[in-house]
Amino acid sequence: MTLSADLDAAVRFIRSKSELPPEISLVLGSGLGPLAENIDGVAIPYAEIPHFPVSTAPGHAGRLIVGTLFGRRVVAMQGRVHLYEGYSPQDVVFPQRVMARLGATTAVFTNAAGGIGKDFAVGDLVLIEDHLSLAMACGLDPLRGDNSGGLGQRFVSLNKAYDPELIALAQSISPGLTRASYAHNVGPSFEPPALIRMFQAMGCGLVGMSTVPEVIAARHMGQRVLALSAVTNIAVADLASDHVTSEEEVWESVKIIQPKLLALMKSLIPALPASGAA
Ligand code: HPA
Repeated sequence: MTLSADLDAAVRFIRSKSELPPEISLVLGSGLGPLAENIDGVAIPYAEIPHFPVSTAPGHAGRLIVGTLFGRRVVAMQGRVHLYEGYSPQDVVFPQRVMARLGATTAVFTNAAGGIGKDFAVGDLVLIEDHLSLAMACGLDPLRGDNSGGLGQRFVSLNKAYDPELIALAQSISPGLTRASYAHNVGPSFEPPALIRMFQAMGCGLVGMSTVPEVIAARHMGQRVLALSAVTNIAVADLASDHVTSEEEVWESVKIIQPKLLALMKSLIPALPASGAA
């Protein structure tokens, strides 16, 4: 079976559950899944969808929801899959490709991230404006391999991958939103201080273990991308620090951020560009 045939099988299955053509895809990261409770629609466990990878990470419900959110037709992932779970880059981006094939032309991503440096505080929501991923540069790019399926170009530009117009739109709705480059670490170990200092020296303000492969696939399939990080902890850059970054810290902080994300999405989702699909 080819990737294109596998995508078709997944799309057919999802359409058998809901015929609603989504305009917007939404990925709800660590602990951010509760936003999906506002979607009026059908929830499908990933395990039921042909060829879908299943979330094994804590805080990732593993359901695809097709429905209406704040007046717009959306398809939302309540929980994602990550490279650190052992999935290949191609498996990690399969759901994003399915959502693009379902018709979503705008892709919104959320994640939990560490803040780097003094510019961010725990509880901040930050727009991603670029990314730095050594993993992608060293061979874990999800576009590596056969490109004959007609899904997108062989060589995809990632300049302005994070759509400047969508960033400006989000900032016009929420003027306090800042932006930063997201450093990607495959994980699951948190970054050692030396790596954080390297990311900081390279101009990154955020660090996390997700989003980058899916953004690349979204651009490959022509989706416009908007991505937001919820700062759940400040990454340790100083070896003298006694701070121990933990999963618990991430869960506690994400609870504070949930209402902020909900408030932003209530204004942002209705303002996102229309796809043209009826
Ligand atoms: N590093 C990587 N991933 C994360 C972090 C972090 O500090 N916080 C939340 N996800």
